[in-house]
Amino acid sequence: MIIMESQDTDPHAPNAFEQKKRDFFRRLALSLRPTLNIHKALGLWKADNRDRHGFRNVTEHCLVEVPRCRVLAEHLRLPDAVRKKLDEAAILHDAWKQQEILLARQASEQGTSIWAAFARASEEFRAFLVEQHVDPDVIELTGGIGHLSLKTVESLLEKHCTPLEEAMLILHYVDDISRNSDWVAPATIQSATQQKVNALDLRMDACKERPLYRQLDIEGNAHLGEGTYAAVLRVGHAVEAKLSHLIRLKSGKSIPPVNLPEWIDTEVRTAIETGSE
Ligand SMILES: [Fe+2]
Repeated sequence: MIIMESQDTDPHAPNAFEQKKRDFFRRLALSLRPTLNIHKALGLWKADNRDRHGFRNVTEHCLVEVPRCRVLAEHLRLPDAVRKKLDEAAILHDAWKQQEILLARQASEQGTSIWAAFARASEEFRAFLVEQHVDPDVIELTGGIGHLSLKTVESLLEKHCTPLEEAMLILHYVDDISRNSDWVAPATIQSATQQKVNALDLRMDACKERPLYRQLDIEGNAHLGEGTYAAVLRVGHAVEAKLSHLIRLKSGKSIPPVNLPEWIDTEVRTAIETGSE
């Protein structure tokens, strides 16, 4: 886990990087406190019967996406006002997770559509954010993640995007590669195909294994004309290619699309090392 646990070295040895990492995320959380308070208001920090940590892992997951989004926003030279909205959207994007899981589980038990349950949760979340007077652009950005956003995101691939649309591509992609609050999985060569696969492929493989998501995968055929995760993967890699192209165009850096997830985390590690959010 990026924030709380060491993945990097001997856990018994004092580790300057681990300390810097905690300080980095503590400062980040403090700077985004007003938006994070929505997590608290939604009960994500309350211990529940199953888990004394409640849904705090959702907060960690959202926090971890902020510096990843910032790396891309910086290299795409997004204006400060859009970067601020992207920060807020990254923090908020999964704040309705508890309700979403509840609705999806109910649908699974009742044998009704999981897709419809996710769509209902998304509508409820949007209404909640409007009620909380969240900036409409931030609400738009939070709608740019996951399988329900695929048609919108796909429509951005071939056009010249506004900065806000580029921010939507960034959040969509960062969420695609972010599993819990782990560092991204390294790219590897798949033995069967000899193709290089990256964190995006590996995350979608993991998603498909979960029973709830297996059903969602099948239901994609009726909505997207293909399995949900095949569509998520196809669009995700197209977004990856577009982001890589935009980075080269705007920053002059040439990052092969398949290496994008690891490059992003290397940049985040540098930001932690140097203490620069
Ligand atoms: Fe997420």
